[in-house]
Amino acid sequence: MADVTPTALLPARRDAPVALEIRAAKQTDIKALERDLGQAKFFADRLKRQRKGKGLLLVAWDRKRAIGVAYLWWEVADEPEIREHLAGVPLLTHLEVSADYRSHGMGTKLIHRAEVELDQRGYARVALAVEVNNLRAKELYSRLRYTEWEHGTVKCLPFDDGTPQAVEICNVMVKRLRGVAPWRNR
Ligand SMILES: CC(C)(COP(=O)(O)OP(=O)(O)OC[C@H]1O[C@@H](n2cnc3c(N)ncnc32)[C@H](O)[C@@H]1OP(=O)(O)O)[C@@H](O)C(=O)NCCC(=O)NCCS
Repeated sequence: MADVTPTALLPARRDAPVALEIRAAKQTDIKALERDLGQAKFFADRLKRQRKGKGLLLVAWDRKRAIGVAYLWWEVADEPEIREHLAGVPLLTHLEVSADYRSHGMGTKLIHRAEVELDQRGYARVALAVEVNNLRAKELYSRLRYTEWEHGTVKCLPFDDGTPQAVEICNVMVKRLRGVAPWRNR
């Protein structure tokens, strides 16, 4: 289910206008994902989970270049507070847009696509965890009508790729999803 935005609607930022396509990742994308976004172990893990029906790895492409990604996690959450207060609510995780494509609506389009995918699967809400100092991302989510929950911050567990990583302190934001599907092509 490709989401192809007419190039005329997108700003010309480099040599050519962006030809945006957002779709679920395929196993054969792994090399391009690693080349363009790094994090080979992360993508291999998420593709494996997707194959087992445990989530959805959405990738934004500009022609053959992977320029953004988001992973929808609908397994039981790792974080105990999220398990307790948001049981059964899927998580929008690992949203990222390549630095040279930011501030041009790519993140917004990835989020909208993620919401539509969840709405179509019957989920009524979506949640996410955002590092407390990531003000720009928080502003983006607020603008898209995500609201912070009332249960305080949580420790976000980073992806374990075998290297030592700091635990992040995160705010949790939630959004009701009913009716997002009509936004699909915006
Ligand atoms: C957070 C992130 C995914 C947002 O992606 P993005 O593509 O820049 O998001 P958008 O362009 O949709 O919206 C962001 C900004 O661009 C602006 N914008 C959107 N469309 C625009 C357009 N066509 N022209 C100019 N600006 C535009 C928005 O108003 C918004 O304003 P801001 O710069 O004041 O925040 C990106 O910054 C990122 O990858 N950050 C690093 C990883 C990260 O923090 N991820 C979030 C984890 S919770």
